[in-house]
Amino acid sequence: LAALGNECLGAIRIVDNEAAIPVTSYKLLQDAEIKALAQEGATESVQLITKSHLSLTGASGKVGLYYEPESKKWFFPEGNAPSTHIVKQSHIRLKKIVANEQLCMLTAKNLGIEIPESFIVNVGSDNKEDILFATRRYDRKFDDDSAVLNGLRVPYRLHQEDFAQALGIAAGDKYEKNGAAYLKRSMNLLRSFSSDPIADQLKLWDICIFDYLVGNTDNHIKNLSLLYSKDLKSIRLAPAYDIVSTMVYDNSTEDMAMSIGGIYNINDIDRKAFEREALNVGFGKNMALKHFDKMVAGFCDAIDKASFTLMSQGFEYVDVIKQEILQKGGIKSYL
Ligand SMILES: Nc1ncnc2c1ncn2[C@@H]1O[C@H](COP(=O)(O)OP(=O)(O)OP(=O)(O)O)[C@@H](O)[C@H]1O
Ligand SMILES: [Mg+2]
Repeated sequence: LAALGNECLGAIRIVDNEAAIPVTSYKLLQDAEIKALAQEGATESVQLITKSHLSLTGASGKVGLYYEPESKKWFFPEGNAPSTHIVKQSHIRLKKIVANEQLCMLTAKNLGIEIPESFIVNVGSDNKEDILFATRRYDRKFDDDSAVLNGLRVPYRLHQEDFAQALGIAAGDKYEKNGAAYLKRSMNLLRSFSSDPIADQLKLWDICIFDYLVGNTDNHIKNLSLLYSKDLKSIRLAPAYDIVSTMVYDNSTEDMAMSIGGIYNINDIDRKAFEREALNVGFGKNMALKHFDKMVAGFCDAIDKASFTLMSQGFEYVDVIKQEILQKGGIKSYL
């Protein structure tokens, strides 16, 4: 744990008190090093991840780095230095997943869902898989009087806890099975602990509707988190993250990670299922379905706008992903 626990998710650090204190600094990364990171499985990127002592959960290869927007430079945090961005690699088996995630995130944003700012890092070759997904960490913030290290402002760490941790559900059980009612339990969690329970429950409801429409069946409870304030006294639902249309991949499961109205298979879920789920989680039917109808009505415009943005940045192939989402996501039933 100590070998990988220097910079974790949230405000936790796991360190070895016996070991020499590592030098804290930000080291400028060369373009070649960023490029090596983009090549999944490349030993250099694995070395970088190990060397950084970063422990970030999840299935895809990822690393925490410091990004300075003005100079567009990337830095490698050493010792106790916090990162500002999580940088995810492409996936050999899931083609164009970086563009897919960015398209989904921008579409979500256009529909009013709170997301962390994210962008695609293009390492300059023609290979469409040679790109990285960078997302600004919502658990890192700057103060007016932030310390400065190697000429860079140092953020502080906010604590976060994913829903599996908060609900005491083992990581191996992150996909709901046998009617375990994860959405209801998640809503109850927000009801009990959020500092703005009504707003956060509605945010979660919107995220669930969006996951269905965009075809994200990987919407498990480790893809939802609670974010704590600096003094740990206030708790809010963290912004939405890790939204990918998994349905565009032929080998993807059609079962959502949380049942809606008792149904798992995305192709069997419909407005009626959301109506049942609304009653199940204790929402008024009219209010809950108003959110559903509004998101359905705005979906096509939102995804058009998002894909246009990405296409004008040179990622023309997102148009294909968009078409696949419209054919395979929950949205297909309403076109
Ligand atoms: N912008 C962000 N700010 C802070 N923490 C984040 C951010 N994005 C993701 N995380 C955290 O990092 C973890 C891993 O990220 P993410 O879920 O995107 O990776 P993944 O490997 O695709 O996950 P999965 O195993 O679900 O496929 C998340 O569970 C979340 O706690
Ligand atoms: Mg995840």
